Parts: sequence; C-alpha cells; structure tokens
Amino acid sequence: MNKFAVFGNPIAHSLSPTIHQMFARQHNLTISYEKIGPEEADFERSLHVFFAASDAIGCNVTSPFKGRALQQADTLNNAAKLARAVNTLHRTDTGQLQGYNTDGIGLVADIHNQGITLANKKVLLIGAGGAARGAIHPLLDEGINTLAITNRTMSRAEQIASEVSHPAFMALDKPGLMSFDADIIINTTSASLHNQLPDLQHISFVKCELAYDMAYSNEATLYMERANQEGAAQSADGLGMLVEQAAAAFTIWTGKVPQTGPVIDALRQR
Ligand code: ATR
Repeated sequence: MNKFAVFGNPIAHSLSPTIHQMFARQHNLTISYEKIGPEEADFERSLHVFFAASDAIGCNVTSPFKGRALQQADTLNNAAKLARAVNTLHRTDTGQLQGYNTDGIGLVADIHNQGITLANKKVLLIGAGGAARGAIHPLLDEGINTLAITNRTMSRAEQIASEVSHPAFMALDKPGLMSFDADIIINTTSASLHNQLPDLQHISFVKCELAYDMAYSNEATLYMERANQEGAAQSADGLGMLVEQAAAAFTIWTGKVPQTGPVIDALRQR
C-alpha cells in the first residue's frame, strides 16, 4: 500500500490524514497516511525511517520542520526557495526527493473558489513571514497587476522585495498603503492564531472585493469581521487553502486531481 504521512510537532490535531483519505476514496485508492510527531532533534532521523519503506511515496511537513525539510530535498520549486520552507516532499521513481511549497498554490486555488479572478488585480499581502513568502510566486504567476507587501516590521517586507525583484512586486510602508486601493487583501500574519489583528489603520477595504485570512476557525476571524465592517465585499478564511494545498500535494504524488469542494464542505460541517 502506498504510504504517506504528515510530520509536525504538535501534530495531533492535523486534518491532513482526513483530507488525503477523502481524496484517495474519490479515486478508489487505498493509502496509508499517518501523523508523525518527532521530538525536535529527531526530525531528520524520523523522515529517513519513513522513506526507508519502499512504498513511501511522499509526505507533508508542517511547523516547526518546514525549514529543515527544505534541507533534505534534492530539488525545490520556486515557492519553496523563496519561502525557505517545504510542506511537501515527493520521492520519485529514481529516488530523488523533490521539495515543494504548495501553500501558495492552495491560496490561489481557494481565491478562485470564492469566484474571484486574479489577472490584472491589485493584491496586498499583510505580513512578511514564511506564509507570505510562499504565496508570492503563485500570485505573480497569475498575471496580477501589482503585488504589494506590508509588515509590522517593514525591513522584513523590504528584504523580500529585494529578493523577488519583480516589476509587479513592491513593499509598501504606511504612507504608501494610504494610496493603494487593493482588490484583494490577504492576512498572512500569525495574529489570528492569537486572536489578534495586525495594524489595519492605513489599509482601505473600500475597493476590496475579497479579504482573505490564511488562518481558519469555526467562526469568522477578527480580520474577516474588521474587513467586512470596513467595506470589503466578501471575506474568507484559510480552510479552503488548507484543502487546496493538500490537493496540490496529492496531485504531485499520484498524478490525480481531487475534487476539493466536497472535502471543504465536509470539514466545514465538523
Ligand atoms: P512564519 O515564518 O512561520 O510565517 P513568522 O516569521 O513569525 O512566522 O511570521 C509571522 C508574521 O506575522 C510576521 O509578518 C509577523 O510580523 P513581524 O515580522 O513584525 O514579527 C506577523 N505578526 C505576528 N503577530 C502579529 C501581530 N500581532 N500584529 C501584526 N503582525 C503580526
């Protein structure tokens, strides 16, 4: 039986096994997908043990091991390089370990799920950590008009702008934000995880057709509520992104494209 897994610590609450088993059922595949939560020092050894099995095809990697997973990969996609983080490893037939970051691919897919197109749009990323980094290439690949990034610590946003060096990409400080009417505004910060909001004072939601929060919860996040109050036409949380990044990984591993809508709906019901 083909073997898959997700590595992280803590890992008990990961939805990945549920999501991938639903995808597998859609395609009549029988797979094993386990949660592996190594101690901090044990990640590489534990990954090695997993891939020692001849039927181990691939794994997902989550916090705090995404950076160390990158070190283990023989090849990397662009998003993984910029994010310096790998969330998907795939062992090919030739034994090569390919590293991907599929989070941004998942974000783009879920923005489309909301009925929003990206071509020629002005997009703002709030936050400049790994989550923002992973989103940049997949968003630019959609042919957007402008991708701006802002952050509480501006130097981190400026650092990313200098690394990306793309004509459609720029870092915006507070004065710059005041004259930037974004169509899509994405909260990539970890603030929602702590029930906090990033500083939104200089950001206008009046022309915003979608306010997207990469975090998800049972209710609308604080960011979604605030964006709606400030005039955003619609808002979404990151549950769809979670399912879509998994779908991208599933396709890398199996060549099959799962239907994500029913899986997102099923998780939402829980
Ligand atoms: P990761 O790389 O895992 O995404 P990170 O590097 O700690 O994690 O990045 C988290 C992001 O959320 C950063 O942009 C951080 O802002 P700083 O660079 O200024 O630290 C942002 N962030 C976290 N909590 C925040 C808060 N309460 N308000 C605004 N931004 C916040």
